[in-house]
Amino acid sequence: MSRRILTIFGTRPEAIKLFPLVHALEADPRFASRVCVSAQHRGMLDQVLEIARIVPGHDLDLMRPDQSLDALTAALLTGLGAVMDAEKPDWVVVQGDTATAMTGALAAYYRKIPVCHVEAGLRSGNIHHPWPEEVNRKVIGTIAALHCAPTETSAEALRRENVDPATVHVTGNTVIDALHWITARIEAEPELASGLAGLEARFAGKRIIGVTSHRRESFGEGMRTIASAIRRLAARDDVAVIFPVHLNPNVRQVMERELAGLGNVALIEPLDYPHFARLLGIAHLMLTDSGGVQEEAPALGKPVLVMRETTERPEGISAGTAKLVGTDADTIVAEAERLLDDEPAYAAMARAHNPFGDGKSAGRIADLLASS
Ligand code: UD1
Ligand code: UDP
Repeated sequence: MSRRILTIFGTRPEAIKLFPLVHALEADPRFASRVCVSAQHRGMLDQVLEIARIVPGHDLDLMRPDQSLDALTAALLTGLGAVMDAEKPDWVVVQGDTATAMTGALAAYYRKIPVCHVEAGLRSGNIHHPWPEEVNRKVIGTIAALHCAPTETSAEALRRENVDPATVHVTGNTVIDALHWITARIEAEPELASGLAGLEARFAGKRIIGVTSHRRESFGEGMRTIASAIRRLAARDDVAVIFPVHLNPNVRQVMERELAGLGNVALIEPLDYPHFARLLGIAHLMLTDSGGVQEEAPALGKPVLVMRETTERPEGISAGTAKLVGTDADTIVAEAERLLDDEPAYAAMARAHNPFGDGKSAGRIADLLASS
């Protein structure tokens, strides 16, 4: 009898980090694989489903404009519970620390269905940074029966919280599987990532700074100071900024108000994954508050300045390929200018460094799901 696995996700990063596992489960006769998307994100999720050719068996279509955490959480819990009642899976798989992942784990727990947590054990040590993700992943960590930690550091964080060590496994992060997969797809079909050619021509001769920003704890003042730092950096004529803007209105309104129309700044729609991989390839450095980008950029040898107060991904910082700069405009500008003007400082950070995985994580997780 094959094991019934229900994989649940709802946002762009979960989709990127789970498509390699869904591909592995679908190709493996040990499993009957089902996918449920909450669609906590809509457009940004669908971009990934399309490129990864995943057709979910269930789509809860829960995104609402500027959704509040409590309304979203309530709708997720009842919606995901109903899907579990219909599917009766042997295992539920969730990834990371979103509202979808946390409620998916909780609904499974209410039904005594074991939970496999992909990207387990990340901790910043501060429940307000990132908010609400630090609490979401701690809740999932309390519930999960199988913890797939990307690194030894994250496995150790779980053991320190008295999680049964027999249930903790270092699998690597599936984001590296995803990056390898998309790189191979682009090599085979370059037109998948050719849509940035116009911007590349417009900014020829300038160094590209790639930017992403979306953290809830930065809404308001933090977003404004990030925008002001970008404005100051873009005043240099040797630099251009390419900024695919997250669809959250709390991000878009500020960025459009502060940055629209600047000659050296391209505020663009969220890029699909092949085009974002292309942006990582052409960028001189990345300014970001994203979790996934902190993992992908070092793998490609791109320095990352992390616009957050804390990180749950200390591996890039220890290796010297990522640096925490917070959301203070002076600090962001000073650190970015150091990388632009000080060649040895740039060279020290621009090293391919890959502590997050070897691209074989999905297969390891599938084996654990078969044997646990
Ligand atoms: C969510 C996750 C966060 C993750 C991030 C990745 C929670 C609480 N937050 O944050 O952990 O890092 O996704 O991007 O789970 N929107 C659209 N279209 C989209 C996506 C979002 O219009 O495709 C807008 C909607 O107005 C929506 C808002 O963005 O209400 C916020 O979306 P939501 O999923 O609640 O939170 P994020 O801030 O995106
Ligand atoms: N990404 C993308 N298009 C974009 C910006 C990001 O495909 O315009 C990808 C990026 O490669 C990474 C993931 O989305 O894999 C990160 O998602 P996000 O920053 O929204 O969430 P986080 O990782 O912070 O939870």
